[in-house]
Parts: sequence; structure tokens; C-alpha cells
Amino acid sequence: MLTKNTVWQFSTAANIRFGRGCSEMLSEELKRLNITQPLVVSDKTILNLPPIAKLLQSLRSTFASVHVFDGCIPEPPIEKAEAAIAIGKRSLVDGVVAIGGGSNLDIGKIAATVLKHGGTPRDYFGFDAVPGPILPLIAMPTTAGTGSEVSHSAVLTDIASETKVSTLSRWLRPSVAIVDPVLTDSCPPMVTAHSGIDALVHAIEAVTNRNFSEMVGVDPQAKAYEGSYPLTQLIGGEAIRLAGRFLVRAFRLPGDTEARDGMALAALLAGMAFSNSGVALVHALEYPIGGLTHCSHGEGNGLLLPHVMRFNLPECTESMAQVAEWLGCKTGGLSSRDAAESAIVAVLELQKAIGIQTRLSELGLKKDQIPLVAERAFQIKRLMDVNPRRPTELDLVEILEKAF
Ligand SMILES: NC(=O)c1ccc[n+]([C@@H]2O[C@H](COP(=O)([O-])OP(=O)(O)OC[C@H]3O[C@@H](n4cnc5c(N)ncnc54)[C@H](O)[C@@H]3O)[C@@H](O)[C@H]2O)c1
Ligand SMILES: [Zn+2]
Repeated sequence: MLTKNTVWQFSTAANIRFGRGCSEMLSEELKRLNITQPLVVSDKTILNLPPIAKLLQSLRSTFASVHVFDGCIPEPPIEKAEAAIAIGKRSLVDGVVAIGGGSNLDIGKIAATVLKHGGTPRDYFGFDAVPGPILPLIAMPTTAGTGSEVSHSAVLTDIASETKVSTLSRWLRPSVAIVDPVLTDSCPPMVTAHSGIDALVHAIEAVTNRNFSEMVGVDPQAKAYEGSYPLTQLIGGEAIRLAGRFLVRAFRLPGDTEARDGMALAALLAGMAFSNSGVALVHALEYPIGGLTHCSHGEGNGLLLPHVMRFNLPECTESMAQVAEWLGCKTGGLSSRDAAESAIVAVLELQKAIGIQTRLSELGLKKDQIPLVAERAFQIKRLMDVNPRRPTELDLVEILEKAF
């Protein structure tokens, strides 16, 4: 019996296009994928943005039938995915183009899944329940945040049970990710802040997670994440460096295209890193909080990040010290412990600079909901498995009380 795991694997979107103006290649990509009747999944705000309106017009002049679902909303309920699927079914679409923030991309993923395999979104919740390739899917992010354009997950909200529900499957990785930073230029500061700090959380969790070699005893069939390994350290580290350099600038100066480009790349790299190495305790705590309060995923994560870093620090001091360096902290001459502490200070400063709430009570959580949040977070095994420090349920209550 192995005591150390010796193998890691890396997956991402089948094809990635990145750069200012690359969204103009959408029609070309649709043709390459043999899509003739696309379903565009988005929301009204996005479809009215000048570059997207122009793109849609060009699609309509190139393809005889283009179908549009414009009803996505943030932190989307399952019903919104069902509404997109209904349009797709009626119109016999043969591919999906998801345009927007993570909310829209995730609806696009679930729509492409159900339109191919039938049933309802609920049939595919959890890990590895999608039986095979989904409809060809092109993902075009308009926020620099979630990395959903390359990830193997989609997150919906189950309103009835007040929980977030994830679908994870290798088949959910898009056929093409078209990452055009131009599309993020119009993000209002709050969206820039919330989605941007989510990208930073993805990268920090990816690089501080348990090492892949220690992921023994996890059934490979049930392993949604690998743990951290050299390739995800490399790309996750670069994502942290870029977010440290550009997030505050993109927030303060929405027209700063260098900062927008930097954040678009940061989010993409963070998505590539976390969707292999895994996200962990920050996300485990945010999901139930988001389900109960409907706060934005990014803000919930951004609020929790320094608290979880403090809890995890004893078990990932070296990698947290490395995070400090990537964030541009002066770590020369410091012990690993002090360098790691400076990463937490840097995150607190960043949080303040971009206006992230600092108390869970400000997000609308009630004090008596803390045990329920801890219980639900503790049950998300795939996230607990990769977290560098093994928490008890009581540890989670303590973290939440400190953040309250
Ligand atoms: N699938 C994954 O891998 C993954 C990872 C992280 C988060 N998520 C999910 O993604 C969602 C959050 O996504 P998000 O942070 O990108 O925000 P979002 O998609 O919820 O969008 C927030 C708001 O910003 C607006 N917006 C987006 N881009 C804009 C632009 N360029 N100009 C003007 N307005 C714009 C949208 O219309 C929306 O109203 C959550 O549901 C979260 O659970 C998914
Ligand atoms: Zn996230």
C-alpha cells in the first residue's frame, strides 16, 4: 500500500484564446466546433454592453438561427438554469455560448449538460455524475474572477434548502475559453473587487493546499482535486503576483487597461490552478454562508480569507511565506513564520483598499446560524480533504465567530 502519492494530472479547457479583441473570433470558433444553432446564455446588462451587442449582431448575420437566454442573475438559482434549458430544447440548439461573469458561465455549463444528456440539473449535482461529453461550450468571461471558463465546476443556488450546489465533472471544462479583457473594462468597481478577490482566493487556496503526495487514501474515483503540485504552484503563484499588482488598480481606475489585462490573466491562471489543485476551507465556509445570505461569492470569500489563512498557517507556513513574496511583501531576513504572517497583513490591506466587508454580520448572517454553517461546511468532504490543516467542526465555529 502506497504511503505517498507519486502522480498528478492537469486538465483545463480544450482551447484558450486570450487577449484584447479576441472575442471577435467567436464566429470562427463556432464554425470550428461545427455549431450552427448556438444558444447564447447571458443577462440583459451584459448583452447591452457595446462590444457584446456588436458581437451578437455579427453572430446573427453569420448564423441563420441564434437563440438567446438573457435571464441569468448573480448566484443563480437552479430555476434559471432550467429556464435556459427550456429555450435550448425548444430551439434544438447544437452548442452553447456562455457570456458573462461566473454566474452566467455556470448556467451555460449546466444547460450544455442537460441539453446533451437529458434529465434535470439535479441529476448531475456532486462529483462525476455527468456520463460523457456535453454540448460544445464556448465560455467568454466578462469578469476577472471565477475562472469558470476553464474549470470543471458549476455552482447553483438551491433556494428551497438555502444551499449552494456544485456540479463537478471533467466534461464541464469548456471546449473553448475566449478571454478578452476588453469585456471586463465595463465592470463596476464592486464587481471588479468581488470577482477579483475570488480569483486571489482561488490562487492562494491552490498553492497552500495539501501537497498531492499526501493525498493518499482518497478514492481516485471520488477525488475532485489533486492537492497542490509543481505546475499549479507555478501558475497559481503567477496569479497571486498579478492580483497583488493589479487588483487595487483595476478597482480604482476602471479604465486602466494594463490592470484589466493583468487581472484577466490572473483570474484565468487562478482558474487553471484551483480547478486541478482544489479550493478548500475558504470556499467550504462561503458556500453555506452564500446559501443563507445570498452575499456575492467573491465578497464572502474575500471576507473569510484572512481568517482561514490564520487558521491554516501552522500547517502551511512555507507556502504561505511564498504567498507573501508573490504579493510583493518584503520578506528578506524574516523567519518563515513572520513572512507567512505578512501575507495575512497584505490580504487585510488589500481587503480594505477594495472595500470588502470585514464582518459576517454585515453580510446578513445571524449569530445563531453559525453552528449550521459549520456543520454544512464540514460536510463538504472534497474541500476538507485538500485543506492544509484538518479542522474539527468546533474549529469552524471558532473561525466563524472570529469573523462575525
Ligand atoms: N464554476 C466555477 O468554477 C466557479 C468558481 C468561482 C465562482 N463561481 C460562481 O460564479 C458566480 C460569481 O461570478 P462573478 O463573480 O463573475 O459575478 P456574476 O457573474 O455573479 O456577476 C455579477 C454582476 O456583474 C455584472 N457584470 C458582469 N460582468 C460585467 C461587465 N463586464 N460589465 C458590467 N457588469 C458586469 C453581471 O451582470 C452581474 O449583475 C457565483 O455564483 C459563484 O458561485 C463559479
Ligand atoms: Zn471561488
